[in-house]
Amino acid sequence: MRIIVEEDYESMSKRAALFVASQVILKPDSVLGLATGSTPLGMYKELIEMYQRSEVDFSEVITFNLDEYYQLPHDDAQSYHYFMKENFFKHINIKEYNTHLPDGMAADIEEECRKYERAIESSGGIDLQVLGIGENGHIGFNEPAEKLNVYTGLVNLTEETIKVNSRFFSSVEEVPTKAVTVGMGTILKAKRIILLASGEKKAEAIRDTVNGHVTTQVPSSFLQLHPDVTLILDKAAASLL
Ligand code: GLP
Repeated sequence: MRIIVEEDYESMSKRAALFVASQVILKPDSVLGLATGSTPLGMYKELIEMYQRSEVDFSEVITFNLDEYYQLPHDDAQSYHYFMKENFFKHINIKEYNTHLPDGMAADIEEECRKYERAIESSGGIDLQVLGIGENGHIGFNEPAEKLNVYTGLVNLTEETIKVNSRFFSSVEEVPTKAVTVGMGTILKAKRIILLASGEKKAEAIRDTVNGHVTTQVPSSFLQLHPDVTLILDKAAASLL
């Protein structure tokens, strides 16, 4: 595991954007695994600016997002479909048909999950996976539990995650209690992984990711088993290392 510690959120975002941009420059038809949440927002902003300066071209890039809330319409401002469109896709030259998110509205959710896995596989697999991390060590929406999913599936969100994510909704009751997420196996099959974390609230999860036992109670600890993971942190997130 490589660990890069940057001074603050802004330099963490710039460093992460450079990782993504160099991946796309070296392999223009890269398959990117993308994340939502407040952490990667700065990285997306940097990438948009790099695109505007013609430093990076997304015309052949394929993307697969990690997760989506269950039964939240795509045009709901809290859906990850909406998030990706507003914060990234509509500002760059990516082709809409090359962008993928799990469809939490699908009538047959199990078939949707299988379809998502097949689509990732037939694209050749994820070249670079971008991850954020939950305060409880979740990656995607793979929550701490006795058992973790290998493949894309429907999962229950923990009370803690519902509470943390309620900051984006008008009340905690509005937060969906389930989500569709790629599985731990899907994440660990990515050729390269970068994980971004910023702020003191993530420090314990980062400590456990790097120095803790590999345990299903800290899903991010499984990243220790992957051969090419880089953590890009700001000082506060790295403060317990
Ligand atoms: C969400 C997402 C994760 C994300 C995490 C952290 O619940 N499902 O993919 O990494 O929480 O979010 P934030 O970056 O806002 O702290």
